[in-house]
Amino acid sequence: MKGAITKRWWHNCVVYQIYPRSFNDSNGDGLGDIQGIINKLDHIQALGANIIWLSPVNQSPMDDNGYDISDYYKIAPEYGTMDDMELLIVEAKKRDIKILMDLVVNHTSDEHPWFVESKSSLDNPKRDWYIWKDPKPDGSEPNNWESFFTPKAWELDAASKQYYLHLFSKKQPDLNWANPEVRAAIHDVLHFWLKKGIGGFRMDVINMIGKPSDFPDATIFDEGVAGWEHWANNLLCHQYLREIDEKVLSHYDVMTVAETPFTTTLDGRYYSHPDRHEVSMIFHFEHMSIDREEHNAVRKPFDLVEYKEIMTRWQNDLYQKGWNSLYWSNHDQPRTVSRFGSDCKEYRSISAKMLGTLTHMMSGTPYVYQGEEIGMTNKIFTDISQFNDLMAKFHYQKILASGRSAQQAIDFLNYFSRDHARLPMQWDNGINAGFTTGTPWLALNNNQAVVNAQAEREDENSIFHYYRKLIALRKSALYGEVITYGQYQLLDQDDADVYAYQRSYNGKTLLIICNFTQQSLTRHYNGEIKQLILNNYQNNPRALSSLSLAPYQALILDISDK
Ligand code: GLC
Ligand code: CA
Repeated sequence: MKGAITKRWWHNCVVYQIYPRSFNDSNGDGLGDIQGIINKLDHIQALGANIIWLSPVNQSPMDDNGYDISDYYKIAPEYGTMDDMELLIVEAKKRDIKILMDLVVNHTSDEHPWFVESKSSLDNPKRDWYIWKDPKPDGSEPNNWESFFTPKAWELDAASKQYYLHLFSKKQPDLNWANPEVRAAIHDVLHFWLKKGIGGFRMDVINMIGKPSDFPDATIFDEGVAGWEHWANNLLCHQYLREIDEKVLSHYDVMTVAETPFTTTLDGRYYSHPDRHEVSMIFHFEHMSIDREEHNAVRKPFDLVEYKEIMTRWQNDLYQKGWNSLYWSNHDQPRTVSRFGSDCKEYRSISAKMLGTLTHMMSGTPYVYQGEEIGMTNKIFTDISQFNDLMAKFHYQKILASGRSAQQAIDFLNYFSRDHARLPMQWDNGINAGFTTGTPWLALNNNQAVVNAQAEREDENSIFHYYRKLIALRKSALYGEVITYGQYQLLDQDDADVYAYQRSYNGKTLLIICNFTQQSLTRHYNGEIKQLILNNYQNNPRALSSLSLAPYQALILDISDK
């Protein structure tokens, strides 16, 4: 096809994300570990995913569960050894699975030797590796930027009387990417891991690495985190990414995915257009803020028409001008089925399949977060002491400070806390759901009698097997091309209950229909059903001119006219 982008190996891959702490514990200490992952590779292979995104396994004091790295060249001892990591790469490769490491380089831990040195004195050679600023004349912070995990982005160091910048917790100081020594040190880290045979990186909040040299005050409040207009997606960031590509990535055949909050589709093209040599694809967040207003920690109702508008814009604007990543959840989001479908007994399985259908038939690379493939659900928490995540604690305080009650704060967290995704994986109906023989680091959801991987594997009508079929379709001889490279077209944009779209490529046309409601509905579409490809119900749809849809029904139909 004219103007088509060059095909790459990762275009028809599906990524499975592992949060190591919560995946599988091999030695009974209550924490998931690398051997535990190795023991479960067959589960991922059976699903058909061929890339694993591994959330951080590097040495870390675990203030943010590993997103605060104190040594990029060591494995956290609670997760295993370098030998274990090398074995994981080898064992994954045997199953045709590549490993993406999580590259957390906007910041390090405050216990990283670089920061320890940097903090030690004003004239230490590493002082300039982080972002240190004098207070304003009145002693206050250098500017008004906020942090994701604390009210202010600056922490005062009493000894040197300077503030350092931390966009996340105060134990996560931001590196100074303006310093070429820092960049070179990070390039070395990438080379080190790529030489071990990994398949690429997921780059943590990488769109925040460029900080403007004058550190101007924020002017946008009540949206995101004050300051983002200055540090998100700026030219410096694009420059640093192209340098990473030139110095490192272009020397290997790898895939990269950049985590980029606050991005538009224009940013999406800047980052992922192959000719710009930055990254393979990005994670945007537009659809993740659809049901919440994060700045004020307030919930908003989900609006399917708005959701379609967002997804359609990303599908169309990046078509042949970049590449999309497709996701419903990750370790920072609540559980997909509880959030966008229904986790009640009657509809959990059916709505989980519907949601999977919607994303897996779009253009881009789909991501499955551990437990999504078995329909794991949110937990109902009753007290703040039950949460582990530092962001949940921050939101709790923020809500109380805004005058709302403790119960209102818990209600909000029951929708949105990152802890939901971090509860231990439910492998079977045994003790601790088969996650550990010891005491789990975070209490389980305790619904493993109904939700567990073993039961899903044994039931051929399960979510797991439905996901397996979705993934297999993307690689199939018959439909792989249209799913991977087909043009996207939204149908009936104002239909508030049903999301229907088509994909077409080289004379093949697929029609995907997803009922987002608990109601039975009737809809009319053009065309004729040539083949029913997948259905989350057992029935057989007959005519598109009057199509009955059961609650949360999803259909994938071949309507090609040839
Ligand atoms: C990313 C990670 C999140 C982490 C933050 C700081 O958003 O996904 O888990 O807390 O960056 O590293
Ligand atoms: Ca362990």
